[in-house]
Amino acid sequence: MTIFPDYWNRLYEEEGRPGWDMDGATPLVRELLELARPLGLRPGCGLVVPGCGYGHDAAELEAQGFTVTGLDFAPLAVQGAMHRYGNRVAWSQADWFTTRLGPWDAIFDHTCFVAMDPIRRPAYVETCAHRLRLGGLWMAALFHDVKGKPGPPHAIEIADLRRLAEAHFEVLYLADATESHPRRAGREFLLVAKKR
Ligand SMILES: C[S@@+](CC[C@H](N)C(=O)[O-])C[C@H]1O[C@@H](n2cnc3c(N)ncnc32)[C@H](O)[C@@H]1O
Repeated sequence: MTIFPDYWNRLYEEEGRPGWDMDGATPLVRELLELARPLGLRPGCGLVVPGCGYGHDAAELEAQGFTVTGLDFAPLAVQGAMHRYGNRVAWSQADWFTTRLGPWDAIFDHTCFVAMDPIRRPAYVETCAHRLRLGGLWMAALFHDVKGKPGPPHAIEIADLRRLAEAHFEVLYLADATESHPRRAGREFLLVAKKR
């Protein structure tokens, strides 16, 4: 059951380096930042990475000058992130749906939305809105193609994400990713949306 931290923690325990871990930040950090900077995202802004795993993206965002919180509810993920990157990032072992931290200027969402059971998507989007300041940005990388495999990750059609996001956000950018990791090329798309 993916709603429980034990599900994920067991994967970290059994696999050490689970299949989704790329041992480094996704190249989509660069692509999403290039989209978000003209929209007002500046160094020093407070960013959160929900479902941060071993913290690669959070650490890269900190290196780019942001004040970053890396949040994950699996204890082994947070321990692994601390071990790799130390306290450059504020790590938090917490559930995204219930954390009392925030609000932040922006969310960097890479393989967290798609890790959710699809039934939780409306609640997940609402939670993202609650975790942001007014006008804050939700940046996300999502899969529209998971090669027919059962999730997680769960694929979502671009049009379905637009419908979900528009309940709480103004969608500013929604299109295929161009700088995906080679293992994911042609299967990812990007969202930048502003909290209404
Ligand atoms: C597929 S992994 C991706 C990890 C990381 N983003 C990466 O790309 O390496 C999904 C992560 O989301 C975390 N997660 C899932 N549901 C969560 C929730 N409700 N609150 C916090 N973390 C959650 C899991 O523990 C897991 O580390």
